[in-house]
Amino acid sequence: MDLYAHIVGWGMYAPETVVTNNDLAKIINTSDAWIRSRTGIRERHIANEKESTVTLATRAAKEALDRARIRPAAVDLVIVATFTPDYVLPSTASLVQNELGARHAGAFDVNAGCTGFIYALSMASAMIEAGHAEVVVVVGAETLSRVVDWQDRATCVLFGDGAGAVVLQAGEDPGGVLSTVLGSDGAGGNHLIIPGGGSRLPATPQTVADRQHFIKMNGPEVFKFATRVMGRAAKEAVEKGNVRLEDIDLFIPHQANARIIKSAAKYLKLNPDKVYQNLQKYGNTSSASIPIALCEAIAEGRVKDNDNLVLVGFGAGLTWGATVVKWGLPVPYQQRQWWYRALRSMHYRWAKIVAKIGWLLRVLESRMAHRLLRPLEYEPEPEPEAPDAPAVETIAPPEVPPGANGRASNGHASNGDAAKLPEPTIEQK
Ligand SMILES: CC(C)(COP(=O)(O)OP(=O)(O)OC[C@H]1O[C@@H](n2cnc3c(N)ncnc32)[C@H](O)[C@@H]1OP(=O)(O)O)[C@@H](O)C(=O)NCCC(=O)NCCS
Repeated sequence: MDLYAHIVGWGMYAPETVVTNNDLAKIINTSDAWIRSRTGIRERHIANEKESTVTLATRAAKEALDRARIRPAAVDLVIVATFTPDYVLPSTASLVQNELGARHAGAFDVNAGCTGFIYALSMASAMIEAGHAEVVVVVGAETLSRVVDWQDRATCVLFGDGAGAVVLQAGEDPGGVLSTVLGSDGAGGNHLIIPGGGSRLPATPQTVADRQHFIKMNGPEVFKFATRVMGRAAKEAVEKGNVRLEDIDLFIPHQANARIIKSAAKYLKLNPDKVYQNLQKYGNTSSASIPIALCEAIAEGRVKDNDNLVLVGFGAGLTWGATVVKWGLPVPYQQRQWWYRALRSMHYRWAKIVAKIGWLLRVLESRMAHRLLRPLEYEPEPEPEAPDAPAVETIAPPEVPPGANGRASNGHASNGDAAKLPEPTIEQK
C-alpha cells in the first residue's frame, strides 16, 4: 500500500510591530526608493522582546493543527526549520513540541538557511511515505532581527521575523508532496554567513566587538547564485513529479527579492498570475517565507483543490530546494466554532500546566536523588595470592626512549614525567 504525505493544515504568525522602509531610513543611510527598486520590500515585521523563534513557531503550529482538526497528542514528529533558534541546545522543535502538548512526538531542528522549510518538508514527507510517521508538523520560523547588523544597510533592510507551519498527514489517495529536489554547494558558504558563535569562532569579547555574530552577506554573489538555481530546481522537481511546466497552477518561491523571483518565473515561462509574491509586506523571513506565502496565497483564494503548487527555496549553505505539491483540500477553510476554539485554548493552557508540573517533578526527583546517592564507600579488594605455577619465561618489554618533551614516545607518561610538567601560566598561578 502506497502512502502519500498530504498537507492538511496550515498556519502563520507575523509579529505585530511593522517597520517600514521610511522607518529604517531614519536610523541608517538608506531610502524607501532604494529598497523598493532593488528588492521590492516595503515593510517587515519585527519581534518584540517577549517573542522568540519558539513563540512565533508555536503560534503558527497551533493554527495549522487547528485547521487540520488534529489533536496535538496525535502528532508523531515536529520539525522546525530555522537558523535563529532560541538556544544552540535544546532544539527549537523540542520546545515547540512541549508548548503544543504534543506528548507523543519526536522533535528536531533543520538548518539549511532559507531553504530550511523545503528540506524539512522533504524529510517529513519521506517519513510519512516510509510509514515511520502518520502526522508531522513542519514549521519554518525565524527571528532574524536578532542576528542582522542594524548598522549594515546592505543586509538589515532585507530581513524580517515570522513563522509558517503545515501539518502533513499520511493518506492512501495519490497526491500531496509529489517530488522534492535538494541541493547544496558549500564552496559558497562564506557568501552568507554568521562567522561567530560556532566552534570555529566561539564567542569572546573580541568577536562581539568585531560584530562577528551578525549576518555577513555578499549580496551580488548570492543574487547570481539564486537566479541560477531557482528556475532549474523548480524544473527538476516538476519533471520528477511527472508534472508538465504548463500544469503548474501556482509558483510559490522563497520571498527574498522581487527581481530574483521575476528571473525564475521568466526561466520557467510562467505567467505573472501564476507567481505568488508577498515579500513587500514581510521582507525575507528565511525559512518562514515559503509557508507564510502559502498561507497568504490560500487566504487570498489563489489555491484550489487539485492545484499543482511548486515551492522553491535558496539560501545559506549555499543550498537550494524545490518541491511539487498536489493540493488535496477544498478551500476556503471553514472557521472553527467558538466552543471548539475555547476547548483548544484550554488544551494549550493545560499543556503548559503539565509541562510546569513535569519540570517541578524533575527538580524534586533530582534533589531526592542527591540525598539518596551518597558516595559509595570503597574497600580495596585483597590482592589475589600468587598461585604456585611453574615459572614461565617472561619477555622484557623493549626500552622506550623518552621523547623530547620528557614523555615516553609511546604517549604514556613515564614515572619521571610529573617533575617535567610545564611551568604554570600566570593565569593558573
Ligand atoms: C542586496 C542586494 C539587494 C543589493 O543590490 P545590488 O544591486 O547588488 O547592490 P550592490 O550590493 O551592488 O550595492 C550598490 C550600491 O548600493 C549601496 N547600498 C547597499 N545597500 C543599500 C541600502 N540599503 N540603501 C542605499 N544604498 C545601499 C551600496 O553601498 C552600493 O553603493 P556603491 O556603489 O557606492 O558602493 C542584492 O544584491 C540582492 O538582493 N542580493 C541577494 C540577497 C539575498 O537574496 N539574500 C538572501 C538569501 S536567502
